[in-house]
Amino acid sequence: MTSRDLAVVIVAAGKGERLGAAVPKAFFEIAGRSLLSHAIERALASSRLLQLIVAAPAELVDQALITAENLAAVAPVGKSSVAIQVVAGGASRQDSIAKALEVLSPDADVVLVHDAARAFAPTSVFDRVALAVREGRRGIVPVEPVVDTIKRVAGVVVLETVDRTELRAAQTPQGFVAEQLTAAYASAGQDHTDDAALMQANGHEVGFVAGDAHAFKITTPNDVDRAYALAFGAGASAGAAGIRVGIGTDTHRFTDEADKPLFLGTVEWAGERGLDGHSDGDAVSHAIVDALLAAAGLGDIGTNFGVDRPEFAGANGEVFLGGALELIANAGWAVSNVSVQIIGNRPKVAPHRERVERVLTELLGAPVSLTATTTDGLGFLGASEGVAAVATALLRRAEGRLGS
Ligand code: CTP
Ligand code: MG
Repeated sequence: MTSRDLAVVIVAAGKGERLGAAVPKAFFEIAGRSLLSHAIERALASSRLLQLIVAAPAELVDQALITAENLAAVAPVGKSSVAIQVVAGGASRQDSIAKALEVLSPDADVVLVHDAARAFAPTSVFDRVALAVREGRRGIVPVEPVVDTIKRVAGVVVLETVDRTELRAAQTPQGFVAEQLTAAYASAGQDHTDDAALMQANGHEVGFVAGDAHAFKITTPNDVDRAYALAFGAGASAGAAGIRVGIGTDTHRFTDEADKPLFLGTVEWAGERGLDGHSDGDAVSHAIVDALLAAAGLGDIGTNFGVDRPEFAGANGEVFLGGALELIANAGWAVSNVSVQIIGNRPKVAPHRERVERVLTELLGAPVSLTATTTDGLGFLGASEGVAAVATALLRRAEGRLGS
């Protein structure tokens, strides 16, 4: 069996200002686990791993240690003996790495430096980089081709198109011969954008191997959706990251009161018989409220507005729609669109459709479409005993917010 010679340094001490989450970026959770946890899991599976060092924000050192130790305990056979150290990071990425290297095992011959922000970089990249370092005794960066056309600019003018066949985008983990890396860090003066640049500034040659699309860096909220799609399949981004859908239905009986007006979609439908209900019986608005609340996982109209509460007696649908909008906004969601359908023989919807759509669209700040159908004369709706409505609402994470 080949001896264990590999140390992995994971830097996780940044603030994650561009992501804008409530916690430092490495501690932001995707699928119920922090980015750091995802990164550690993949790093722990590397071949010939001897030591794992994490640089975390000072106040989260204990938490990072528990995460790493728990993952090591359930990792494949042999990984429970990996030495795990967590240090407090520094003011810059380079400082954080310097602090991590202070606890580097003297038995480590190859060191991989990895960003926790590249949480989904697969183990195969770790192994590929480490192998190339061992073989060439030099630094190795994983790279991806540059797909965009790249321009060199000055002021407001494009100077030239750069030949992209020579360009590569660098990822992590980047690998180095341990003694070369520690020597370079010991003498590092200025800040370099990555470790390969630091090594080259110290006169070392750096080679490259193929990177991996999954090793992209999570920087802004948009990258969170991408992480879901890449790591868990395209459809998975919907629930926990980007968008949510909800459904709501409501039914009200036509009233016996001859002069009670009909309200559907918050507006009066002149000349039509009204609906019974503790509020004004606006099945359209109530179905939409349920759809909005359901999409955000916030219960329904009954649990939020207690439809038997006296202050809602006779209330217009606008009251409930406004309340639902406030609740979902507070939970970090915005409405993308709403579709609502009236089911029943009466009233005829066509003459009112445009007006109701316009009013509801303005109220919700998002497109609302109203459609109608009958039940082929069947049941209480076919017999014109009442009106039913079914709605779906699509929500998206509000701008700059990560939602819940
Ligand atoms: N990092 C670190 N110590 C720092 C700064 C950054 O360990 N003082 C780490 C981050 O935790 C991250 C990696 O370096 O895993 C790459 O940095 P970046 O993507 O810029 O992350 P942040 O600095 O956290 O994000 P931002 O720049 O948006 O604040
Ligand atoms: Mg940063």
